[in-house]
Amino acid sequence: MTKNQVEVKTSKGLVVFEGPVTDSYIEGLTMNAGLTNFRPPDRQKVALMQITNLPDGMIFLARHENEIIGYVTFHHPDDFSRWSKHPRVLEMGGIEVSPAWRGCGVAESLLKVAFSHPAVENFIVITTEYCWHWDTRNTGLDIWAYQKMLTRLFGKVGLKKVTTDDPEILEHPANVLMARVGQNVSKEDIMLFEEMRFLRKYRQVANLT
Ligand SMILES: CC(C)(COP(=O)(O)OP(=O)(O)OC[C@H]1O[C@@H](n2cnc3c(N)ncnc32)[C@H](O)[C@@H]1OP(=O)(O)O)[C@@H](O)C(=O)NCCC(=O)NCCS
Repeated sequence: MTKNQVEVKTSKGLVVFEGPVTDSYIEGLTMNAGLTNFRPPDRQKVALMQITNLPDGMIFLARHENEIIGYVTFHHPDDFSRWSKHPRVLEMGGIEVSPAWRGCGVAESLLKVAFSHPAVENFIVITTEYCWHWDTRNTGLDIWAYQKMLTRLFGKVGLKKVTTDDPEILEHPANVLMARVGQNVSKEDIMLFEEMRFLRKYRQVANLT
């Protein structure tokens, strides 16, 4: 798969945005110690490497010299999620930028490099934003300001809020489902996604009990 790579001079230093990268490439880099939002950095590094070997799995990195300072992940939804039942849905699983490198456009550039890759045009990319994953402590934002920041940031690469009766999204009013339909996705697959947003309606359509 072709690899995108862009260098950006940020107010905090030169950052290279690149991907999809391989597991061996990630192995040769160090993880910034501040990348702790989802799990400790060494375990997150292993998780990123594992995703590179999943079907359609992709990792895009923000790198300063030999150190990973941010990343965004793409993989098929977990089997228990309703979205795993759709053949063309790919999940943007998580995006993280080390606190020391935040506020200077790293996340925005990372998303732009990732969503300029041709592979995303073959999928309906979704992101399930659960407020319990959000770093309100380090950002100083409350969950509503955080939701606004994320939906605005993700909106810059074409992700749009979609309503759904997915119980995990409904668990908290601040949670958000966003989606971006790739150029190569068929009308049938778009229709199926639309139907799956509301399971009750979907069950009727699919004659599921
Ligand atoms: C969300 C996150 C990736 C943003 O990274 P970042 O590199 O600081 O973002 P950027 O510098 O590209 O800023 C993007 C936008 O968000 C705004 N923003 C970022 N941090 C902010 C803060 N603490 N307060 C207010 N606005 C903020 C920026 O001003 C910018 O807005 P603009 O487009 O109006 O200029 C980072 O805060 C993070 O890693 N959080 C923890 C993990 C997480 O919550 N991931 C998302 C869920 S999976």
